[in-house]
Amino acid sequence: MAFTIAIDGPAAAGKGTISKAVAQHFGFAHLDTGLLYRAVGRRMLDGIPALDAARALMAQDLDADDLRTPDVAQAASKVAVMPQVRAELIDFQRAFARRAGGAVLDGRDIGTVICPEAEAKLFVTASAEVRAQRRFDELCAAGVKTDYDRVLADVRERDARDMGRADAPLRPAADAVRIDTSGLDIAAAVAQAITAVTLAQ
Ligand code: C5P
Repeated sequence: MAFTIAIDGPAAAGKGTISKAVAQHFGFAHLDTGLLYRAVGRRMLDGIPALDAARALMAQDLDADDLRTPDVAQAASKVAVMPQVRAELIDFQRAFARRAGGAVLDGRDIGTVICPEAEAKLFVTASAEVRAQRRFDELCAAGVKTDYDRVLADVRERDARDMGRADAPLRPAADAVRIDTSGLDIAAAVAQAITAVTLAQ
């Protein structure tokens, strides 16, 4: 039986960690839809037109190591503004969402546009400062040289682009359960998410 869990929210709010843990808990498959936009953004940086890249996207393109960099994140949010690019990526996401055995999809527009009929919807958020600190710590741990103010500016720029675009802007679905992770550790955030999904069943 198909059961879809939609998890949306801004960058570095904890969506990825929560989504993986929720998928593991329920034994569901997980799709990080940001990787689709990152894969297209990566190719745009290489000079390939974004729409061509979206049309040619293959599942194996989502495994690349170089999709997690700040440059690719910004490029992803630029290609994500283009309605035709978004349209190319819809079928793949919807098919994944309805696979037998259940699915968790995380992104920006899963509960609002991709799967408005999802059985459970979460909106995971945190203050821009907390999110920037987390991203800064991750980059430092990965050996990337950067400073906190630059990361905060990047987070704010991407938030503004994701929330301000005309097509599928980042916003909570009316029926999404909101989880603010600013003051929560990973275990507490995951526990809240699992409780919310369990109540939706
Ligand atoms: O989640 P992640 O940070 O990897 O997403 C990268 C970018 O991809 C986001 O800033 C956003 O612009 C775009 N995106 C989107 N819709 C989604 C997932 C990601 O527009 N469902």
